[in-house]
Formats: sequence, structure tokens, C-alpha cells
Amino acid sequence: MPDPKVIVALDFPDETSTLQLVEQLHPEQCRLKIGKELFTRSGPDLVRRLVDAGYDVFLDLKYHDIPNTVAKACMAAADLGVWMVNVHSLGGPSMMEAARKALSSDDAPLLIAVTILTSSNEEDLQAVGINNSPAEMVTRLASLAKAQDLDGVVCSARETTSLKSLLGQEFKLVTPGIRLADDSTDDQKRIMTPIDAVQSGADYLVIGRPITQAENPLQKLKIINAQIESVL
Ligand code: C5P
Repeated sequence: MPDPKVIVALDFPDETSTLQLVEQLHPEQCRLKIGKELFTRSGPDLVRRLVDAGYDVFLDLKYHDIPNTVAKACMAAADLGVWMVNVHSLGGPSMMEAARKALSSDDAPLLIAVTILTSSNEEDLQAVGINNSPAEMVTRLASLAKAQDLDGVVCSARETTSLKSLLGQEFKLVTPGIRLADDSTDDQKRIMTPIDAVQSGADYLVIGRPITQAENPLQKLKIINAQIESVL
């Protein structure tokens, strides 16, 4: 699989347990996501190590700050050689514009945005003074990201169909909350199978525990990849 759609979420507390898992995977079968916990503990050295091992790395740090700071952080991520980086769309158009300018070369990482986190409900939004529904905000923020020429957004698999039709096929949709029928749902509330997610327009699937906690992670990844390929 030369262009793997699965991004394995490396939700591990340290480098040792991360590498134990990664050694069982293969860069032709998946990409990798590093988030705030692992990055805060293990830092850029681990990112470089995974990049050097041939993996496409999604640095999921959701930058949200003044435009200049976000632009500089994006450049630092690009210097690490990551494949994808993200910002928080609530940082607004000027912040996203600055991030886009910072990552404008042909070999720059993909720049995507998060919209409303799936952990936020209507009440959470109202508490911070946002009176629109989460669904309205997702559409609004994803449209803002597209207007600033970002490459895509992270969204729930339930939002992919409407976002693809609104924002076009080229706008990348990265979706977590993916489970096979016999997987534990863990703490995910709204899940979708890999086949359904891809068929509804997801470009990349972020999958953590179903792979990282599997008895044989590579075998599980291959099962998922075979399912995805069957509908491409
Ligand atoms: O283990 P699991 O497959 O549930 O992991 C999903 C990954 O996607 C985690 O890293 C989680 O933080 C991330 N994520 C999510 N839901 C969002 C945004 C990110 O599950 N709305």
C-alpha cells in the first residue's frame, strides 16, 4: 500500500513503549500520529527518529496562538520533516493565513485544522459564548479553513459526507473514531467502520487502540488495509 490511509495514533506515555509498537509496524502500511502527551514527554528527537525510519508523521499539536507564533511553530514542525501538521481553526482566519504562508513551499507538510472537538457538546459551546450548534460550527470553521487554503480538517466520520460535498473532493478529511465491528468502542461514542468511513469520503483514518492494543498490531493493520482497498 504505497499511500496508506491509516494513521496510527501513538497514544503512549514514553518513547520505549512507542518504539516497541512501531517496530511491529511498517511505513508502507501506515502513517503515525504524535500528539501532545508523547511530544511533551519525548519531544522532537522521537519525531525525527520516526521520520528517519521512513514514516509519514502527523504532528497533532493543534497550534492555537497569535499568527506569528503559530507560523513559527509550523516552520519548526516542517524542519522536523513531518508529513502533516495541524492548527486549531478557532484561532481564526489571520492565524490560519499565517500558518499557510509559513507552509507554502511544494515540500511543506500538509496543513490541516481541527474544528470543534467531538468531546464538546452544545452546552460546552454555550459556556464559552458560542450559541451555534456544534454541527453549524464544524461547517463554519471547516469553510474558514478552506477559505485560507488549508489542505483539510480533522472531523468525525459522521461529518465527512456533508463536508466533502460542501468543500470539494480535494479538501482532505482526517477522521478518528474508527472501529471494526468486533472491536471494543473504548471511550468513543460515535464510531464508524473503516469501510463506511472511506466510502463516506474520509481520506485518512486515525486509529489508535484497535491497532496499538491488538495482539498482533501488523496483522490487524493489514486486515484494516485490505478492507479499505476492497472499496477504493
Ligand atoms: O484509540 P482511538 O482509536 O480511539 O484513538 C483515536 C485518536 O484520535 C486519539 O489520539 C484521539 O485523541 C484522537 N481524536 C479523537 N477524536 C477527535 C479528535 C482526535 O479520537 N475528535
